[in-house]
Amino acid sequence: MLNQAKFYLTTPIYYINDIPHIGHAYTTIVADVLARYHRLKNEEVLFLTGTDENSQKNLEAARRAGERDLKKYLDKMSARWAETWDLLNISNDDFIRTTEKRHWEAVKKFFLKVQKKGDIYQDTYEGFYCDGCEAFVTETDLVDGQCEAHKKIPRVIKEKNYFFRLTNYREALLKHIADNPDFIQPTKRRNEIISYISNFMTDISISRQNISCGIPVPNSRKQALYVWFDALLNYLTAVDYAAKTAKGKTRFKKFWPADLQLVGKDILKFHAALWPAMLMSAGLPLPKTIFAHGYFTINGDKMSKSLGNVVDPVELVKIYSNDALRWFLLSEIKFGEDGDFSLVRLKDGYNNKLANELGNLVHRVLSMTEQYCAGKVPKFSAAAEGLDPLCEIDIWRDYESALDHLRFDEALGVVWKVVAMANQLIDKEKPWALAKDDGTRGRLNDLMYNLLETLRQLGWLLLPIMPETSEKIWTQLGLTVGKEKTKDLGKAKIWGGLPAEIKIKKGEPIFPKIL
Ligand code: MSP
Repeated sequence: MLNQAKFYLTTPIYYINDIPHIGHAYTTIVADVLARYHRLKNEEVLFLTGTDENSQKNLEAARRAGERDLKKYLDKMSARWAETWDLLNISNDDFIRTTEKRHWEAVKKFFLKVQKKGDIYQDTYEGFYCDGCEAFVTETDLVDGQCEAHKKIPRVIKEKNYFFRLTNYREALLKHIADNPDFIQPTKRRNEIISYISNFMTDISISRQNISCGIPVPNSRKQALYVWFDALLNYLTAVDYAAKTAKGKTRFKKFWPADLQLVGKDILKFHAALWPAMLMSAGLPLPKTIFAHGYFTINGDKMSKSLGNVVDPVELVKIYSNDALRWFLLSEIKFGEDGDFSLVRLKDGYNNKLANELGNLVHRVLSMTEQYCAGKVPKFSAAAEGLDPLCEIDIWRDYESALDHLRFDEALGVVWKVVAMANQLIDKEKPWALAKDDGTRGRLNDLMYNLLETLRQLGWLLLPIMPETSEKIWTQLGLTVGKEKTKDLGKAKIWGGLPAEIKIKKGEPIFPKIL
């Protein structure tokens, strides 16, 4: 028997100085779609997300919230993030908090390893620090003397720190990027990183003095590890990097290196230069792909508290449903590019594409099954002329190729092609006319079976992207969701999997119109 392939997928770990907004939900939803898709392909998936807690930002937020007990604040906020992902139907397999013991132990082990290698030295840091980025920045990062992302003049600081010899890895990083075209994606971002590594990358300070939160630098009384050095390691600690026994290392051996690390373009530099250099220093293999997606604006404006346009995903799904939000984010924003979010377009898209096209097809086919087939799936006699299966090899090939290349909008395009073909077939064949004549009974049955089986397959096509919708479709078809899901993809794709004679269970429209 072939070994089951594994797929280790990560999101950034989020700061918890506030509740999740739609931007954070975007990365997490995309990761969820991929996790579900790889499970569908029968891979053993580890989907990791979590919270970045040893950060000055969180400490300040706790103070602002009047919470003196930092741990209490972090526990409450981290739980709030985990709950939000539950509400959004996110199927992560693990949730790491960087205040956990498993993380601290691994970070210390990692630091000592890199120190032993000779990649850590002490020096005085004198330069800029942007509190918003929680990063030391150089002149080249600034626009008109300000941090571009936070529109603030960075602080000038001078302190004794530990440094990581990032520049030792300049050549090795460039070689790895050249030898592995898939390592940093998309291409535009890869080129930016190559330019950064070649021309601007310097050694980096990896500790801060007198800081009240953070992991203490081993064997140092005054210094705490810089939050990015600590945070990046979550991807390793979650797979038990620090385990001492062979048994404890099972997860690490199985899952490392990560297959896909999703990040927003704002944090690619950390993930595509510092992170791989840290791994090289520790003698560990590098993740296969780091993919940076774009940022989106809200009605053309940057999302920000001061503009009052921060979108809460939980409020949205209360009105539109999880699947509608997933559909909108994935079809509206080309993955990898910047995009824009608009409530008006969400509502229009919901009513046009989800209610009128997909929802209406399901309702229409089931209504006709009640009307013309006594509410049962009819028997399929033989492939009648002009009634070819709507969802066969080409459809699945295009769909899988789109998802394999993270082209979510294209995958949805394939699904909507099937919806359009089914609607056209109904208009062409006119089942209401076929029902009037006993002589066309056989054709009517074949047509209805064809349409119902198309719905079953649509359920499979939608499973990773809109999982609640898949279940609704199967339930209304009269299938037992649990049983249908036990099929492997190879079997599910075979045309004719819908048993004849089962009683359908037509319900309410799956996407009721929103006025
Ligand atoms: N804690 C660090 C990441 C450490 S990973 C080792 C961090 N956290 S964050 O809370 O600021 O989250 C940043 C991530 O949120 C971005 O990389 C991106 O994935 C997502 N987004 C935040 N705002 C966004 C948009 N407006 N648009 C799209 N994604 C957005 O940085």
